[in-house]
Amino acid sequence: MITVSRKAHFNAAHRLYRKDWSDQKNAEVFGKCSNPNFHGHNYELIVSVTGNIDVETGFVIDMKVLKDLIKNKIENALDHKNLNIEVAEFKNLNPTAENIAVVIWNKLRPHIDASQKLEVVLYETPRNFVSYSGVH
Ligand code: NI
Repeated sequence: MITVSRKAHFNAAHRLYRKDWSDQKNAEVFGKCSNPNFHGHNYELIVSVTGNIDVETGFVIDMKVLKDLIKNKIENALDHKNLNIEVAEFKNLNPTAENIAVVIWNKLRPHIDASQKLEVVLYETPRNFVSYSGVH
């Protein structure tokens, strides 16, 4: 098994909060990320596909296919969006880096061969990042 990875990027705004909590509790738990006026991040995404090398093509997955998949399913859906307001998945889901990574993984998984492993790494800041490979 060998892993190929593609880097991508999107900018998005969010606010971390729970509707069922008071503004004060939201501020205590989520700090500056609970600013009612939202704030943005430059998200960096690394999508990795692990599988066998196809004997005919020499590829695990065609990088052009992976690039277009990320562009069409992720960047078009999330780039320059307010995640809380404009992205259906976050209508009732806090747009933390963890939850965004899971949403991205769920959007991509149906388009990756079932025999291959998919991993999503999402950087919310250069120092803070999360990884998700699905439920094992
Ligand atoms: Ni934030």
